[in-house]
Amino acid sequence: LGLLIAQGAQPAFASSGDHGDHRDHGGPGKPHYSAGAAGVGDPYFPDAGNGGYDVKHYDIAFTYDPATRIMDATTTITAVATQGLNRFDLDFRGPEITSLTVDGHRSAFERSGQELVVTPRHDLGKGRHFTVVVKYKGTPPVVTDPDESIEGWVPTDDGVFVPGEPQGSPAWFPGNDHPTDKATFTFHATVPEGVTAVGNGRLESQKTKKGWTTFVWDSREPMATYLSTVTIGNFTVTKSKTSGGLPIYTAVDPRLVTQSAAAVAQIPDIVEYFSSIFGPYPFDTAGAIIDRAPDVGYALESQTKPIFSSAPGVGTMAHELAHQWFGDSVSLSRWSDIWLNEGFATYSQWMYTEHTGGATVDQTFNSTSNYGRAATSSFWQTVTTDPGPVDMFGNVPYNRGAMTLHALRGKIGDDAFFKLVKKWAATNRYGNTSTAEFISSAEKVSGMDLTNFFDVWLFQKGKPTTW
Ligand code: ARG
Ligand code: ZN
Repeated sequence: LGLLIAQGAQPAFASSGDHGDHRDHGGPGKPHYSAGAAGVGDPYFPDAGNGGYDVKHYDIAFTYDPATRIMDATTTITAVATQGLNRFDLDFRGPEITSLTVDGHRSAFERSGQELVVTPRHDLGKGRHFTVVVKYKGTPPVVTDPDESIEGWVPTDDGVFVPGEPQGSPAWFPGNDHPTDKATFTFHATVPEGVTAVGNGRLESQKTKKGWTTFVWDSREPMATYLSTVTIGNFTVTKSKTSGGLPIYTAVDPRLVTQSAAAVAQIPDIVEYFSSIFGPYPFDTAGAIIDRAPDVGYALESQTKPIFSSAPGVGTMAHELAHQWFGDSVSLSRWSDIWLNEGFATYSQWMYTEHTGGATVDQTFNSTSNYGRAATSSFWQTVTTDPGPVDMFGNVPYNRGAMTLHALRGKIGDDAFFKLVKKWAATNRYGNTSTAEFISSAEKVSGMDLTNFFDVWLFQKGKPTTW
């Protein structure tokens, strides 16, 4: 797909796709209909997301039996056309589709790779609200990433673990899988009685009938698809509140309760500490899902319910909770800016360690896993703003990203730095942003020209020496 993303904050949605058969009604003043693009032009994941529409809401209803691994699902997508459409794509890698309708009319569709190409019975005019209902049944796949880690629908010994960054959500529901298209979500998950299904947002209801329990989860703040989860298994559930009244829901594999107790106990303190330096927690609920998924081996900041594939330490808990502000509420416009997510979460983790009496941020900055690395180390040979899809979750976006923030704090001073961070979280709340906007915001807040600073930390290879 030969589309280019705009270099500014927002991605360019191409006005036509690459499918070839544009039914152009032509002529000035006449409505124009064409195919939506098959991707939003993200250089790391060219097929991710789609052009021509904006999803407003996903309603994902399914029955899942861990014993058979069969999902029987109906996903309803409410969207608005951003161009006249005679065809559009969804991202979907899930099981066999048994029916697909657009505004109630059965519609033709084709599948190729992660693209689900839909030809609606009637053309959709620009600005039109439309509803797509997709029914499918079977076993959703495990998705392998460029770094060889796995995500998507990952079976465990008692259910399924569901991480989606950067490209796992199409394993279990069709959608517009790019962080630039956030939407609200409702999940209706029906599982065998005794099993728990934990999704993003608030638990609206939990009802058992004839041996099956339906959990309804509602995510009312906009969410990027990669942050969605409905993780299923045997869980010990605890509901509590922070002293500020924020509800906390934790689901912990009974085998991990003891090992994860210290990290779980810190959740209210972490949320309150970060709220004091970043501004209000962005969502109406917080929590954690701690599961046993040994083949996954990482944690993920799924919105309101970060998921852990083993018992986390306090540092990892702090990291995933910091992402609720940086990554989840304030999101990327393209994956190459991943340092904005991981650098902020890692630096937040350093600050929480200092706050609780551990190593100071200065000590962590100078340690041998950070600035203390030899100038000859290959660590310094990756550009922070372009790690590539294989190393996007490698050391550089995390550690050089966090070092960049600490160096910036030293350069502009504590007052300007914390003002910048609060402003960044507030201005971009529920939105999408970019490195370019971060630089301009830092220059505005500090009143300094930071061209050389950001050049050596973000855009050049090599260990920065003066900045
Ligand atoms: N964002 C996650 C974290 O830092 C890591 C996700 C890793 N995903 C992957 N496919 N390797 O907490
Ligand atoms: Zn992270």
